[in-house]
Amino acid sequence: MKFPVFEVYYGIMRFSEKPYIIIGSGIAGLYTAIKLSEKTAKQVLLITKSDLRESNSRYAQGGIVGVLPENTQDSVALHVKDTLKAGAGLTDKDVAEFISKKSAESISDLIQYGVKFDRASDQQIELTLEGAHSTRRILHSGGDATGRNIERTLSDKVESNPRIQIYRKTVAVDLLVDSEKTCRGVIVLDETTGEYETIYSSAVIIATGGAGQVYSNTTNPSIATGDGIVLAYRAGATVQNMEFIQFHPTALNFEENGSRFLISESVRGEGAKLKNLDGEYFTDSLAPRDVVTRAIFFEMQEKGYDYVLLDATCLPEEQIKARFPNILNVCLEHEIDIIREPIPVSPAAHYIMGGIKTSVHGETSIKGLYSVGEAACTSFHGANRLASNSLLECVVVANELAETLSKQDISILLNKDCQINCLISQYEKNHFDLPQEVLKLKKTLRETMWKKAGIVRDEQGLKEALKIINELKLDFDQEYKCRNLEEYEFRSLLTVAELIIRSSLLRKESRGAHFREDYPETKDEAHNSYLSKESICIPSTIHW
Ligand code: FAD
Ligand code: SIN
Repeated sequence: MKFPVFEVYYGIMRFSEKPYIIIGSGIAGLYTAIKLSEKTAKQVLLITKSDLRESNSRYAQGGIVGVLPENTQDSVALHVKDTLKAGAGLTDKDVAEFISKKSAESISDLIQYGVKFDRASDQQIELTLEGAHSTRRILHSGGDATGRNIERTLSDKVESNPRIQIYRKTVAVDLLVDSEKTCRGVIVLDETTGEYETIYSSAVIIATGGAGQVYSNTTNPSIATGDGIVLAYRAGATVQNMEFIQFHPTALNFEENGSRFLISESVRGEGAKLKNLDGEYFTDSLAPRDVVTRAIFFEMQEKGYDYVLLDATCLPEEQIKARFPNILNVCLEHEIDIIREPIPVSPAAHYIMGGIKTSVHGETSIKGLYSVGEAACTSFHGANRLASNSLLECVVVANELAETLSKQDISILLNKDCQINCLISQYEKNHFDLPQEVLKLKKTLRETMWKKAGIVRDEQGLKEALKIINELKLDFDQEYKCRNLEEYEFRSLLTVAELIIRSSLLRKESRGAHFREDYPETKDEAHNSYLSKESICIPSTIHW
């Protein structure tokens, strides 16, 4: 008989104060740090649970939207029109106009910081096309390495800035919110030393990215576990539209380290076409993402396929080599020569349109707490994000947030009210726990979400999923202090899964990326959905 191993670990807590804390080192976090440092000349602390350069941002391929004055084919009005159409009634027009108008300025900023966007031989910026854009307006860098190049440029800038302090391999585990609903700081765990630190601050900014890892098929790397959304939700902030998950139509049909390599929509933008295994074209390859994804899903279901084919062999060899060098190489590693043969692809979870409800300046429903990037929901993307609008939103909102904060008082109030003290004490306690089989629990969670709360949903499947998530919660039973990063990430995934399911159950219609087989119609009136900690206990108080 195997006896359970009891582990003992001790609560070592350090205390400190910083004017500004940014959690996350993707493009949203890095850009906010740079702008804050420029606008305020104050010390900024940037915390990241992985290496500085690991994030969703790093893998962005297609590019970033820019409505450039020299592009006579484009205008703010046209970009807004496309964004609203993709958003299926839930994009806020004012937000879309605001972000679109600021796009040219943000692109100039990135160029000034050193980002090299691809240019034609006459030095004009090259623009590509993606699904549901009515004209070419997407800037790219290094062919298909836009995210990596922007991330690298911004990371270099952050690392060489003495006013930006970086905590690497440090995970934010809870926010300090007092009884007046004001955020006073954050508790973090240094994964290397195992030490906890309570950091008081006048402004905590969540830039922790998305939650693709909640699904067994995803283009997102392992860091994308929805931590920031859960930190905010646990602290009482309002989260919005959590049912809207974007499933990208074309992920390479191989899994590596829990994630799948993306075949950019811009490959279709440049002329590649989707075919079934009998060589038939079955969908408009450049329709909005949700439409193409469902077309693939039903084609696979009907014909019993594991994947469909993306045929780029019609593109000139030189164009593939210049525009998609990364995709070409990764496919070659899987023995697929995309110049000569079609690529096996299938849909995968890619982006979360919902998140922490914020204004276009990054303000949340909690004073002192801000959010930017994929973790936030400004209502720009609505029910379905237009390709390459995410990186644009990251930089525009980051700049607005830094501007807003630069005008505010930054006195740090060392509020030690009971609510905060109680929370800190949870992380100071010694724990005597059974080791958890997190890997196994995580596999069950991710597969359940894919099968029952994925591309096509219905009430029965969603309720079954909720039951399984609740059972996993009972098995895991770690509400506060966990042993390591893996457990903290699983703690987040459990709550993100629950939020997605509950929001999906509440939306009894199909809209954008949310497709209910039992409610296939779209209602005439469009409403956002909101959840907060209080409302989830009493479903009747959820407002629409
Ligand atoms: P991220 O870049 O994901 O960064 C999150 C950061 O937070 C990471 O540093 C992470 O380690 C850190 N973190 C998370 N939790 C914690 C915690 N608890 N404590 C401390 N740190 C934490 N969008 C486009 O507009 N154009 C594209 O071409 C494009 N292509 C894409 C391709 C792929 C493969 C993927 C996955 C996404 C793509 N997207 C694209 C979407 C876009 O990349 C992301 O939405 C965007 O980069 C998110 O940036 P972010 O800064 O908000 O988050
Ligand atoms: C892609 O290149 O297909 C991804 C673009 C995006 O998610 O915006």
